[in-house]
Amino acid sequence: MERRSPLHTGGHRRNALWIAAMVHRISGLALACFLPLHFLALGLAIQGEAQLDGFLKWTANPYVKLAETGLVFLLAVHMLGGLRVLAIENLPWREGQRRLAMGVLILAGIAALAFLATAV
Ligand code: HEM
Repeated sequence: MERRSPLHTGGHRRNALWIAAMVHRISGLALACFLPLHFLALGLAIQGEAQLDGFLKWTANPYVKLAETGLVFLLAVHMLGGLRVLAIENLPWREGQRRLAMGVLILAGIAALAFLATAV
């Protein structure tokens, strides 16, 4: 049976900073998927006031509010995580990256909860 190199055991996938990079990638892709839907919704304004109004009423649905909370979380986690990556790339290296990544997660969670609190 073929033996796997110690470099390819998959252990890196349990590393907090690998997970942070994966969260960054997935949140970026999810935001990119959301954008065309957002433009479609905005495009309703061209069709007339009533169409846009109907859509805005639909967004008052609690499930939509929950989905929007997820979106706020994705945007916050991607933006703050992206700022962390930009800081790594452009500033002198600093220790404590795991703590920073955890801070990003917590701040994004707080932003999402703050949105939910004002939305309901
Ligand atoms: C809000 C401010 C934003 C900041 C500061 C930001 C920052 C970044 C950075 C620094 C990267 C490169 C990450 C790396 O090299 O590891 C990145 C990747 C990416 N971003 Fe953003 N971004 C922002 C908003 C967005 C938005 C709104 C979208 C989608 C509409 C988006 C989609 C993506 C995607 C798809 C990637 C590629 C992820 C990958 O393949 O690993 N970003 N972002």
